[in-house]
Amino acid sequence: MRSAVLRRGFSYVPECYKVQPSHRAESDSKLGDVPLINLDGMSDDPARRSIIIQEIANACRCYGFFQVINHGISQETLDGALSAAAGFFKLPNSAKAKFMSSDVHEPVRYGTSVRDGVDKVQFWRVFLKHYAHPIKDWIGLWPDNPYDYREKMGEYVVAVQELSVKIVGVITESLGLGPAYLSDKLDDGMQVMAVNCYPQCPQPELALGLPPHSDYSCLTVVLQDMPGLQILDSRDKSWKAVPMIPGALQVNVGDQLEVLSNGRYKSVVHKVTVNSEKTRISIAGLHSLGMDVKMDAALEMVDEDHPNGYRESSFRDFLNFIAKNDLGEGKNFLNTLKIR
Ligand code: OGA
Ligand code: NI
Repeated sequence: MRSAVLRRGFSYVPECYKVQPSHRAESDSKLGDVPLINLDGMSDDPARRSIIIQEIANACRCYGFFQVINHGISQETLDGALSAAAGFFKLPNSAKAKFMSSDVHEPVRYGTSVRDGVDKVQFWRVFLKHYAHPIKDWIGLWPDNPYDYREKMGEYVVAVQELSVKIVGVITESLGLGPAYLSDKLDDGMQVMAVNCYPQCPQPELALGLPPHSDYSCLTVVLQDMPGLQILDSRDKSWKAVPMIPGALQVNVGDQLEVLSNGRYKSVVHKVTVNSEKTRISIAGLHSLGMDVKMDAALEMVDEDHPNGYRESSFRDFLNFIAKNDLGEGKNFLNTLKIR
């Protein structure tokens, strides 16, 4: 089966890619006031660290989202991963088809929709998802075409795993749980790379790259080569277009941290818009606890004024859920965990 997004020169958006008007990209979405955090000194300067803890705490409470600069990953590593990703998507279909699978439990899979052929509305995206941590367990399953895919993507995934453990350390410290509260669990946890390609779209106002959703992760770190992400400001329900800052990485609080914090921090609802100018590449690293390790609210986050609001869950519980349900209505899985 070949989907329209894989064909070049498509001149209109077929019915099955048209998303409901309320989910489309708002041309008037506000740009700009999305938190940007300078991580310089995070690990070695106590005075800077306490400022960063405050800034990240505010961003997690208000948005569940922020961008980071001075994160310590070199531009060369970022560019290498983006070009390896772009190189993969440019391969002929025959080279990509061997990774094609609609089974969400596959550790490496290539696809053109959330669940090919099953979901009612298709999205303007092709993707390669692969597990990445610990790298020695998975790198042998990744594409070896382009010839440097494993080397370039490997360099990035190791760096971003390390960065995400550091950022989660700041977040748990900001909750009063200490900087190492999740470190071992993340070191033994999952890192799933969602390598996304959003081809240029002839009528970008009718389609979406990804529908509104939150990520099932503790933390998602996204590298992109051009703008396209919009986040929902949960306070006034307005969408904000995230500005492109060269060299910056985007950080999403995921469902597992909303649960851990017992709702103090919000996993951000976000969607991806498409454009008519250029193909967009993004690489989202989803960092979470191990496949069968349950996340629940920290005891310290639960008291009389803050009764436990969430059931525990694991990454496997999430996969079993999306195997049966459409992704794409905000916090679908997380809503099933809420105790009312
Ligand atoms: C995702 C995602 C954002 C992007 O893969 O879950 O939200 O900018 N990606 O591609
Ligand atoms: Ni996402």
